[in-house]
Amino acid sequence: MSKTDLHQTLLDICADMAGCNDKGAVANYIPELAKVSPDRFGISVCLADGQQFSAGDATARFSVQSVSKVFTLAIALGRYGDGLWRRVGREPSTHEFNSVQELELRKGIPPNPFVNAGALVTTDMILAGSTPAETLGEMLRFVRQAASDDDILIDPAVAASETITGHKNWALAHFLASFKNLEHPCERTLGVYFHHCAIEMTCEQLAHFGRFLAGFSHSPSLVSRDNVRSINALMMTCGHYNGSGEFAYRVGIPAKSGVGGGILAILPGKASIAVWSPGLNKQGNSLLGTRALEALSKSLEWSVF
Ligand code: DON
Repeated sequence: MSKTDLHQTLLDICADMAGCNDKGAVANYIPELAKVSPDRFGISVCLADGQQFSAGDATARFSVQSVSKVFTLAIALGRYGDGLWRRVGREPSTHEFNSVQELELRKGIPPNPFVNAGALVTTDMILAGSTPAETLGEMLRFVRQAASDDDILIDPAVAASETITGHKNWALAHFLASFKNLEHPCERTLGVYFHHCAIEMTCEQLAHFGRFLAGFSHSPSLVSRDNVRSINALMMTCGHYNGSGEFAYRVGIPAKSGVGGGILAILPGKASIAVWSPGLNKQGNSLLGTRALEALSKSLEWSVF
């Protein structure tokens, strides 16, 4: 793949996405996110040889939201290893990403670390022995090191917005606590959770972040090979909630979405890709982000299958 080929493919995808009439619906249950225009679109790709190509709004900051569940999982797996699986499962979910019903059916053990309840558990685990500020500091350090970029911050307005309106997350936290699957007071775990969801990154930074998951030799080695394999497997099976099967069918690349419209997609050994378009489909995943990744994987034959 020559430099011009890949860059031209990204520019073509950008132009195609701009021409789509249906851009999905921007998340509005977090009022701060509802302010973002659905017309934004960015994409960035890091390759194994260290080159990076981008198109569209690839240097605009967006709220990573559930993509941060990859950060918490990576840190929790590093600290607890298989001990993690006593408190959270590793099977795809059948309900929406913030379902209280599914948590009740599973008796307080969330199906996987990527649904909200599962990320509340991994957040609760990495909070052990630290203050919320220290835990968030550790997360930011991890993200900045992986991205090789210190200019990555939390947007306090987004965190405050969700603290007020995130009723389902409050319900999930109390439910977890009722099943004794939360060790800290709900507001403490939720405080860290809302803040890591509010980390802001650009597509270029997020694609850079993903290099260790793609196994690139030039990426900072922060996570063991075994854990990288586990994270990618979970991204493939659970990264798009109850839309993970459809995403795997269409795109064929392990990926994690966020309700801010970002998706991090990892093609092991070949590419770390970040795409952002804030309009969502009915499962809460970026509509055009998914469409763009499908176009990219088909035109370059980039798929793990
Ligand atoms: O907890 C929430 O609802 C949001 N902070 C994150 C959810 C999310 O990103 C779902 N993703 N597609």
